[in-house]
Amino acid sequence: MSALSFVMETDSAAATRRAGAALGAAVHAGDVVILTGDLGAGKTVIAQGVASALGVSGHVTSPTFNILVVHRGSVGLAHFDLYRLERAEQLEDIDFWGVVEGDVVSLIEWGDRFPEALPADVLTLTLEITGDESRRIAVSASGERSGALAGSWRSACAGLDGVAVPGGRAPR
Ligand SMILES: Nc1ncnc2c1ncn2[C@@H]1O[C@H](COP(=O)(O)OP(=O)(O)OP(=O)(O)O)[C@@H](O)[C@H]1O
Ligand SMILES: [Mg+2]
Repeated sequence: MSALSFVMETDSAAATRRAGAALGAAVHAGDVVILTGDLGAGKTVIAQGVASALGVSGHVTSPTFNILVVHRGSVGLAHFDLYRLERAEQLEDIDFWGVVEGDVVSLIEWGDRFPEALPADVLTLTLEITGDESRRIAVSASGERSGALAGSWRSACAGLDGVAVPGGRAPR
């Protein structure tokens, strides 16, 4: 059972980036966030928002060919894209577990491709394209740590321009 789950809707890439920035303001080193959803759903847009809140300089793109890029910010940001990975064993080549268990925030695009490889306590964002400019983001936490992150992120998103968090006020 998820510790906490909710859905939000955004009406533009800028709104999704704002939601990502609110996530970036709520994360701590050691947090692991899985980003799933179709090509072009907005996983990298979320990552750009997180990166901006962490003070990462430079442009953040999908690390599709590198698989992993670590950005320097107020906290290190390990940005993975597992789209091109063929087998879970290849995760060892990039020291996946060493990085994820290190002193960084991990964002893992296409992390759902290797569910057995993921830590137990992760925040999963499933993005769905609902229109040219609209996206639905289903958020689910699988443990205590990710549940706390989900709760604070949800509260922070409730007032953001272009971001709707249906279901009323965030639970305390
Ligand atoms: N509400 C929205 N939220 C996020 N992106 C949006 C939204 N509306 C339109 N877009 C557009 O959708 C695209 C999302 O691209 P992005 O690179 O973030 O997708 P992705 O999920 O990372 O794809 P990939 O799997 O190829 O890495 C961008 O071109 C962005 O401008
Ligand atoms: Mg991407």
